[in-house]
Amino acid sequence: MIDITHILVIGALVALGYFMFNGSRHDPREPPFVTSGIPILGHMFGMMWHGVGHWGNQAKKHPEQPIISLDMLFTKFYVITSPDLMQAVQRNAKTLSFEPLLLFGARNISGISNPKTLDILRETDAGGQGLGSKIMHAMTPTLVGKPLDLMNVQMIRLIQPLIEKMGETSTFDLYEWCKDATMAASTEATYGPMNPYKDKEIQDAWWDFETGLGALIANTLPWLTARKAWKGRQKVADAILKYLQEGGQNQGSELTAVRWKASMEGGLSIEDYSKLEVGMLIAFVSNTVPAMFWCLFDLYDRPKLLDELRKEVEANALSVATDGTHSIDLTAIREQCPLLLSTFQEILRTRSNSSPTRLVIKDTVLADKYLLKAGNTVSMPSIPMARRQEVWGDTSEAFDERRFMNSGEKKEARRAGGFLTFGLSPTICPGRHFASSEILLLVAMVILRYDIVPVGGVWKEPSKDTSSMVSIMGPIKEKFPVNSTPRKEYAGIKWGFHVEEGKGQFPLVIG
Ligand code: HEM
Repeated sequence: MIDITHILVIGALVALGYFMFNGSRHDPREPPFVTSGIPILGHMFGMMWHGVGHWGNQAKKHPEQPIISLDMLFTKFYVITSPDLMQAVQRNAKTLSFEPLLLFGARNISGISNPKTLDILRETDAGGQGLGSKIMHAMTPTLVGKPLDLMNVQMIRLIQPLIEKMGETSTFDLYEWCKDATMAASTEATYGPMNPYKDKEIQDAWWDFETGLGALIANTLPWLTARKAWKGRQKVADAILKYLQEGGQNQGSELTAVRWKASMEGGLSIEDYSKLEVGMLIAFVSNTVPAMFWCLFDLYDRPKLLDELRKEVEANALSVATDGTHSIDLTAIREQCPLLLSTFQEILRTRSNSSPTRLVIKDTVLADKYLLKAGNTVSMPSIPMARRQEVWGDTSEAFDERRFMNSGEKKEARRAGGFLTFGLSPTICPGRHFASSEILLLVAMVILRYDIVPVGGVWKEPSKDTSSMVSIMGPIKEKFPVNSTPRKEYAGIKWGFHVEEGKGQFPLVIG
């Protein structure tokens, strides 16, 4: 929905554009240009209305073209929908890179303006010190194996009380519940006992920031054009600064420790590091919340599948201690619940609208045919890809909960590169194992213990907030009230989780 702040932002950009930009000249070797109904600003409006979904919508309108160009006033977006061209992007990883987007995030999302800090963060190819990608690389090993399982132990300790509460409250908003569960579990597991997001006011300020990013990201007089989001960001940054000054990071996860260490060794000020952390939480929660919601929605909406999954979890991942406590085991969910894991990935395939993005850092000719000019952006929307027959076979449009099973009834061969929910290699979400542990442990326990029915009795899809700039999992924009009732099979039982130190990884398909 466009509001007055969006109009102000657009107005400011147009004015600037006319002064600074001579109109985009199109080289005939570049991918064909497609225009939208509204001259000059059509694609910008499209992006504000439809967020990351705009690229997919444009690609769907031109199915005959494997790649198209969209004029975005200051820059161009090249939108790719062909698996062959996507592989060509992977082959040109040196000149089509994700790295410069980290600097964009630091400046336009986290609001860092200090030129010295931006230089430190900027990638080395562009003359900077490359700290942005050093921080990302430092994090990756902390999101698998032992450190991940330690985080999982904390995460699940925090999620369980919320699952207990489901049995005490009859009517509640399921989406809000997913937000609370994710926020509580992800932030405390990461930041430790002094977690600044324990304070509900800080959580709310963060959501003001996240939901207002559409206007904030333009970074044009943000205190005026995106006031609520800008104030929210400042409030959270102040709380994180306080946490760091009081030494909270010394009791946090290894993930927090390595980010802090890399940032301080790299020369960031504590103030700018606090700002960077505000943006970081997007990675942790913005996709996990809607993914959790759609998992619950899609399972409870399919009673036969729900029944099969309950049986699989009961048979393979539920243990009963001598005192009668029932525990769900994470390793067994990873290794012995193939239907649950396959269903989870099918829900991600059908519900996500990811759009892996790369910046063209040097003129590149893709597949010996298409010229991509330096300074423009490449986007590979998953919606057309996730439904392509050549990628997924003739059931590409259908929901097939067994699509990702390796054995037994699996039918068509899959083509690598089609599953883009966690990105496209070499930039793959390092948090996918944490997100999968969080969602699947929670889902496994909830489906065993509760029957959930929407108020009104019908699982009718709520409308989505399509303008989100950061979530690819379809966040919703309305309340979703449900009633839950404890299942009589497990009346009076005490519950727990079991997380054993292990490989800390799910066998997930990646793009
Ligand atoms: C269902 C939940 C999630 C989904 C669907 C998801 C999806 C993605 C995608 C698509 C990207 C790559 C973007 C691109 O190529 O343009 C990405 C990057 C990233 N994700 Fe996730 N993510 C999820 C949860 C998480 C969690 C829980 C964490 C942290 C624990 C996390 C941390 C990150 C980080 C740090 C990056 C940047 C990687 C880099 O710069 O190399 N994500 N995620």
